[in-house]
Amino acid sequence: MDTEQTNLSLEQEQTNLSLEQVLGILRRRVPWILACVLLVAGAAYAVSKQQTKKYTATTALVFNNNQPGQQIAGLPAVSSVSPQAQQSTNVKLVQLGDMAEKTAGLLGQGLTKEHVKADLSVTAQGESNVVDVSATATPPALAAAIANTYAEQFVTEQQNSSHAYYASALQLVNKQLSALSPKERAGTAGLALQERAQSLATLAELHNGNVQVAQAATIPTSPSSPKTTRNTLIAAVLGLLLGLSVAFLLERFDRRIREPKDLQAIYGLPLLGVVPRSAALSRSAKSKSEAKGALPPSEAEAFRLIRAHLRYSNANREPRTLMVASAAPGDGKTTIACHLASETARMGSGVLLLDVDLRHPTVAQQLNVQPGPGVSDLLAGAVSISDAIQTVDLDSASADGWVRTLDVLVAGAELPSNPGELIESHAMEALLTRVKSMYEFVVIDTPPLVAVSDAFPLLALVDGVIIVGRVGRNRRDVAARLNETLVGAGAPLVGIVANGVKASRRGPYGYGYDYTAARAKRLSRAEKSERKAASEASANGGPRLEEPVSEQLSRGGMPLYGEAVDPFGRLDDPPVERG
Ligand SMILES: Nc1ncnc2c1ncn2[C@@H]1O[C@H](COP(=O)(O)OP(=O)(O)O)[C@@H](O)[C@H]1O
Ligand SMILES: [Mg+2]
Repeated sequence: MDTEQTNLSLEQEQTNLSLEQVLGILRRRVPWILACVLLVAGAAYAVSKQQTKKYTATTALVFNNNQPGQQIAGLPAVSSVSPQAQQSTNVKLVQLGDMAEKTAGLLGQGLTKEHVKADLSVTAQGESNVVDVSATATPPALAAAIANTYAEQFVTEQQNSSHAYYASALQLVNKQLSALSPKERAGTAGLALQERAQSLATLAELHNGNVQVAQAATIPTSPSSPKTTRNTLIAAVLGLLLGLSVAFLLERFDRRIREPKDLQAIYGLPLLGVVPRSAALSRSAKSKSEAKGALPPSEAEAFRLIRAHLRYSNANREPRTLMVASAAPGDGKTTIACHLASETARMGSGVLLLDVDLRHPTVAQQLNVQPGPGVSDLLAGAVSISDAIQTVDLDSASADGWVRTLDVLVAGAELPSNPGELIESHAMEALLTRVKSMYEFVVIDTPPLVAVSDAFPLLALVDGVIIVGRVGRNRRDVAARLNETLVGAGAPLVGIVANGVKASRRGPYGYGYDYTAARAKRLSRAEKSERKAASEASANGGPRLEEPVSEQLSRGGMPLYGEAVDPFGRLDDPPVERG
């Protein structure tokens, strides 16, 4: 696969996110999402708390639009108007007039007509004939007072005007009556007019308007603004949306390799193994006393799987000299080279670990051996190979009673000034040929390929190259560039090892750990019950049981391999054809 194709497939991968990927993004960006939610909601809460509290009180006015008085007054009843039109007329009516001024005058407290108008809102209650007069003010009592006073003023005004209306109608009827002769007055028309005059007089007396207060405003107990809870909740939702946008944006521009399968996509190589991010692996570099200690089962299994993939996926071209390479320092080349060599040696092979990182050699420190003499002395012809090789006893004595050992050729105590030249020399080529004839498996730790050019000559001298990718740290573009260089150089690339994968991660890779962890648990349970059975058997003087499972485990022999055959299902990967 060339780089263009790689980039293309990566881009496709990024645009079509699966549910699993989306969940992965959310999980990774949880701190950002939470921060956005807390920040926006917190800001809304603080701003709301800062605002002065305002209270709203409402007086309900009910209109009576079918005035019997109008008929009595001899006027047609207003009827054909739609309830909506009637309501908007009522609202307008309440807003008009000089009630604001009167209310301000009545209430005092420095109120002006403008204040009252600004604090007031008149709304219709749907199509009913109820109109709400609401006043909003800072002291709750003032809000109720404004609403009630305004409404009362309006009702009074309406009553006055209807009184005036009936009075003038009465005047008119009386005028008509006085124009009649006494005979006409006694006639039917005259009697009707007299009756109407009486009704009008009564209506005028009643001071009955077409509007009444249906419900007076009470002093509100909770503020109408600011609505702190509502504002905070809305802000939290907005913050969540912001957080999600930030998460996906960050992911879009994040050039780091996130998953082992990103490495697979970039390099187009089989995944030989996944090495978990583990304290045991991190510690080995620091605590010398534990440097050679056996790894916990799941970590050890990861290295055995790498070895199994190397050996069985490519049986006729099994690499005997294996270069462990990576783009950057700190990817875990030395860690993986050391443990891969140790685990292979534990299984009984003759293994040499060769440190060719002549700039920052750390193998000696990791395995707690003498820092020299080493490769640089050897290449300079200062020592013989047998003097330079150091032998490390791996802790566990195997089932056959042999203590497994690992041979190590460190970089050398004195670092050379020209590491590149040394590695490119014929002496280096001769050294590799020599060690290949001496050992079944040679693991070569190298300097980072992107940082320095030292390791490039080795690409042509080894049987196989594995690339270590540190998940969550390596950048895609750097990896893609390295891949381009390696393919161009015709390197015998065998596969990739994803290092530093979170062990808790689920999915196809997580399965590997669950599998090994569960297996380790199962084994320790089996071991306990076997011990119990054995002690019972020996107590009974019975025959000793077969080798306990725990020993099989620590021996790390083939039974483990046999059972652990690839939880990733990748042993069938076809041989890699590259370049
Ligand atoms: N899987 C891992 N889990 C935890 N720490 C690791 C892991 N792999 C490497 N490290 C730590 O990262 C650091 C760099 O690793 P190292 O093997 O020296 O990288 P390199 O040789 O590529 O420069 C070391 O401190 C090592 O212990
Ligand atoms: Mg290193």
